[in-house]
Amino acid sequence: MPLSIEQELSQLFGKAFESLELPFKLGAVSRSNRPDLGDFQCNGAMAAAKLGAGNPFVTAEKVAELIGKNDLIEKIDVVRPGFINLFIKPTAISQKLSQFAQDDSFGVKEDFSEHKVMIDFGGPNVAKSMHVGHLRTAIIGDSLQRIFKFKGYKVVSDAHLGDWGTQMGMLIEGLKKRQPDLVYFDASVTEDYPIESPVSIQDLEVIYPEESGLCKSDPKAAEKARAATLELQNGRPGYRALWKHFVDVSVATLKRDYGELGVSFDLWKGESDADPFIPPLLDELADKALSIQDQGALIVPFRDEEGENIMPPLILRKSDGAVMYGTTDLATLYERVRDDKAQTVLYVVDGRQQQHFKQVFAAANLMGFDKTTQYEHSYFGTVNGKDGKPFKTRSGGVMKLHDLIQMAKEEARKKIAASNFDTSFSDEEKEDIARKVAIATLKFADLRNFRIKDYIFDLEKFSEFEGKTGPYLLMQVARIKSILRKANEAGAAAGNLLETSDNEKALSYRLLEFPSVIDRTIEKRAPHFLCEHLYNLAQEYSSFYQKQHIMKEEDKAKQASLLRLSQICMQQLVLGLSLLGIDSLERM
Ligand code: ARG
Repeated sequence: MPLSIEQELSQLFGKAFESLELPFKLGAVSRSNRPDLGDFQCNGAMAAAKLGAGNPFVTAEKVAELIGKNDLIEKIDVVRPGFINLFIKPTAISQKLSQFAQDDSFGVKEDFSEHKVMIDFGGPNVAKSMHVGHLRTAIIGDSLQRIFKFKGYKVVSDAHLGDWGTQMGMLIEGLKKRQPDLVYFDASVTEDYPIESPVSIQDLEVIYPEESGLCKSDPKAAEKARAATLELQNGRPGYRALWKHFVDVSVATLKRDYGELGVSFDLWKGESDADPFIPPLLDELADKALSIQDQGALIVPFRDEEGENIMPPLILRKSDGAVMYGTTDLATLYERVRDDKAQTVLYVVDGRQQQHFKQVFAAANLMGFDKTTQYEHSYFGTVNGKDGKPFKTRSGGVMKLHDLIQMAKEEARKKIAASNFDTSFSDEEKEDIARKVAIATLKFADLRNFRIKDYIFDLEKFSEFEGKTGPYLLMQVARIKSILRKANEAGAAAGNLLETSDNEKALSYRLLEFPSVIDRTIEKRAPHFLCEHLYNLAQEYSSFYQKQHIMKEEDKAKQASLLRLSQICMQQLVLGLSLLGIDSLERM
């Protein structure tokens, strides 16, 4: 992988500092925030003065002298108190850009194939429709899995279905009431259950809310649901068979919804898959004297040296014997670390579950898991309505994900009809455009915010073709594609990059930042850095295109170079969008 200009300069300057017996890292070079004074700067001489190296201006002059002439640097200025400003040779910029553009990954990919990253996101629950609360985990988690994969990590994503809690008992009891004669409820039958599911997802979506409402008001019903959950967990064959049907019909619908969003998982495991790991986990906790009995329940207390509780305990088993959400998460982590040999496990889950993950991770730390693996709750904020409260439908209900996508499509169709788009599209193409614009709208609006922040859902604003939106970026890509197409029709094609002119400088530097943007995105697990970069890149292209009249350029070699720059920009936008999970369009 070629080094970026920044990396190459930083090495050069690092060595210069080193030969003055100063730390290598003082040579760090960054883009200048005053392009009139230089393209890049190095401020290490001031830091050296703090380390006792004397007058920073003198140090800076010595460093500049040591660097002397080279292929990258056109000019070095040393200014008081000790700044080093650098101008880069215009040929060096275009050479770097050519090198990067020839690389499939634009200089991003490294070999991390030995490093397994497991990403737990999605987390949908069996028998419940996905709602707006599942939007962020899907969008952020999917973008992270794409970016980590692209960087070269071995990535395994897992949907971690909610399929082992009390809602399963509620469904079992609810169905028993409706169809008591089903073979699954006959305790004397233990095998050969029908292959066909006795219920559809629609049935489950009726049964679940009814039972859940009933359990809230009727302690007897709640008790029955708990008992059924426990029997299921303990392995009653009829319940296990029924449970399998519930999971299967739910997964079919979930796959449809995720498919619509363009989100996929490597594994479709669930909380239930942790079941075999629970007994060894509980044994180990007991052996290490980390778990205790407390009022009939089995818990892991968290105490400081004085024996004071520092946070609420993790409940492993309730007094009735059923395992909890924390138990399945700890057992799943146990599996991921011990069997899957993951080095990093990321949980892209709502920030309102911070306490839960603190407990699970604290228990894992007490057990000594952490030595090999890093695990982390990469949490996110809430999607709010304009009233500042979690986003609801107009009637105050929970907004289903499927309906939300339909709304975004409707808005996209409206906006497309109102703008002067190409009118030659067939109905089918129009529908495809509306779908892609809708997905770009939802995804970009979500990802452009730093993940831990809440945001206000404003579909109207998100769908605009102006501003920092998904549709704006799709439009910019289609625009550059159209410029390249028209040039082609006029017999002009992209060629070699010539030396970078002033009009092209800002755009070229922006393009060269891509690898460091991806690294920052990975480091912070935060795709908004990539969103910001793509938006700035699109803006930069617009101002370049305004200043530089490509089609009027008479020097054919220069024109070919400008078209090449346009092409590289388009490719990076398409690539960057794909890492956000957004498909670009050829034309709009
Ligand atoms: N099913 C959970 C919910 O709907 C989310 C699961 C998140 N992942 C996890 N490993 N706990 O709240």
